Amino acid sequence: MTATTQTILRRIYWLGFALAIGVPGLYMRAAENAASTGASPVTDEIERGRYLVTVAGCKDCHTALTVGPNGPEPDMSRMLAGRPASLEMPPAPELPDGPWIVTVSATNTAWPGPWGVSHTANLTPDRVTGLGKWTTRTFTDTIQTGRHLGRGRPILPPMPIPMYKNFTDADLDAIFSYLQSVPPISNRVPEPLAPKAAPGQ
Ligand code: HEC
Repeated sequence: MTATTQTILRRIYWLGFALAIGVPGLYMRAAENAASTGASPVTDEIERGRYLVTVAGCKDCHTALTVGPNGPEPDMSRMLAGRPASLEMPPAPELPDGPWIVTVSATNTAWPGPWGVSHTANLTPDRVTGLGKWTTRTFTDTIQTGRHLGRGRPILPPMPIPMYKNFTDADLDAIFSYLQSVPPISNRVPEPLAPKAAPGQ
């Protein structure tokens, strides 16, 4: 790969990142406005976590879409369980040229981009395949550092870490309390795939 190609890929990566975090960013601003006007009537920690998960759009990416009578809709029997392990996908397409840079599976849970292919995580409290063994601390460290368990590999796009790391500790505690209260679903999400080493490989 030439140096120019590498520079272009790097630019494309950051552009993709910025776009992927844009939409959740709007949700976050709505949440901030509600908080600053004291409009949120929610007091109980789990209820506040549910509210934050709703306005931050976690379910958009972490609950697989399925096609229902009214078109694509979240499959709530798999709420927050991430990319279904049973989902069979052909190899990701070649990345498009020019300003089109990201593709996504119809379930909204598998994301090929310049970073490789990321799969949305299982956020339910299943102890083997979800966050059941996590503590509030591991969760907070993961979001605030952008690394798995606060010290492992970097969390890839489109997970909006640059926005979410601005959550306060209290917000993250509430989000984690809510996530631990939802039904556990056993679903082992595959590890991300590395970017192809060179075009055409
Ligand atoms: C735009 C899509 C998107 C949104 C919105 C989103 N996520 Fe993610 N999330 C992802 C993807 C993709 C991954 C997997 C990244 C990877 O494997 O590196 C991920 C990974 C994670 C992880 C890391 C799990 C681990 O094992 O390290 C946590 C925790 C998480 N998300 C929580 C949340 C929470 C909480 C919200 C809402 C506040 C949220 N996500 C919203 C796409 C999203």
